[in-house]
Amino acid sequence: MIQKLAQAKVNLYLHVAPPDDKGYHPLQSLVVFADIGDEIVLQSGTSGEALTLKIDGPFAEGLGGGEDNLVVKAVRRFEQATGVAVAADIRLTKALPVASGIGGGSADAGAVLHLLRRTYAPDMPDRDLEALAAAVGADGVMCLWARAAIAEGYGERLTPVTVPSMPAVLVNPGIDCSTPAVFRQYDAHGHFENTDTKHTFIDISSADALVSALANTRNDLEAPAIALKPEIHEVLAVLKTQPEAWFARMSGSGATCFALCRSDEDAEGLRRRLDGLWPRAWVRACRLG
Ligand code: C5P
Repeated sequence: MIQKLAQAKVNLYLHVAPPDDKGYHPLQSLVVFADIGDEIVLQSGTSGEALTLKIDGPFAEGLGGGEDNLVVKAVRRFEQATGVAVAADIRLTKALPVASGIGGGSADAGAVLHLLRRTYAPDMPDRDLEALAAAVGADGVMCLWARAAIAEGYGERLTPVTVPSMPAVLVNPGIDCSTPAVFRQYDAHGHFENTDTKHTFIDISSADALVSALANTRNDLEAPAIALKPEIHEVLAVLKTQPEAWFARMSGSGATCFALCRSDEDAEGLRRRLDGLWPRAWVRACRLG
């Protein structure tokens, strides 16, 4: 039995260009990864011929285990590429909220691809594994490697960066946000601004430098997500006034928001207060890096 953490992704900034002729949006984003996530366990060869996927955990409800689950999609891509018929029991413990801007589904796909390679195709080169992850979605490749990077293109072109490990709190108000709907809203009302701030983030040595560089960046999907789900505005307004929140913003296409903190104690204190304030929200202290 082997297992892997499918780490949550956070977009520290997300600059979105107008849609191209495919209707997709070129973007530039600084992505970092949390030390919390879903868990994938793979046991090969136990139940005979078939693949089984069992889903448990706090966000299992409403998540189907069928062919459109990104874990199953990743398995099918792997089977097509290798000719292996995967006979394994996979368990997905869904600890991250679904459709929440922190890459949960892509992270699950990435984690299962690592486990499949280890089990069935240890000689598969990284670039082939990457191609399978890319087929799962725009966040597939970044979530496969789960390393801090500037993402460009549609999110698949990565430049690794070194960022300091940052204490943080993640907050999801318990509403899911449809990525295509947020992009459509952005197209209808977006103010397209300069997307390129990459040079500023190639060499960030301290948390102070990171936070002051972030002040000149945006998440261009924040306004359209708020237009669709006004609760996000409330979360951000409260987060930004908390003494422990050094910097606060929404991640991805929402609705999860994050606050960077100066210490783990601050992050834990902030988590506790927000948990009390919003008992039905998902609030977690973590490290991002
Ligand atoms: O690739 P993924 O399934 O994550 O994307 C979901 C949807 O978000 C796409 O179908 C597209 O409408 C939109 N999208 C986009 N530009 C991107 C990424 C996603 O327009 N760079």
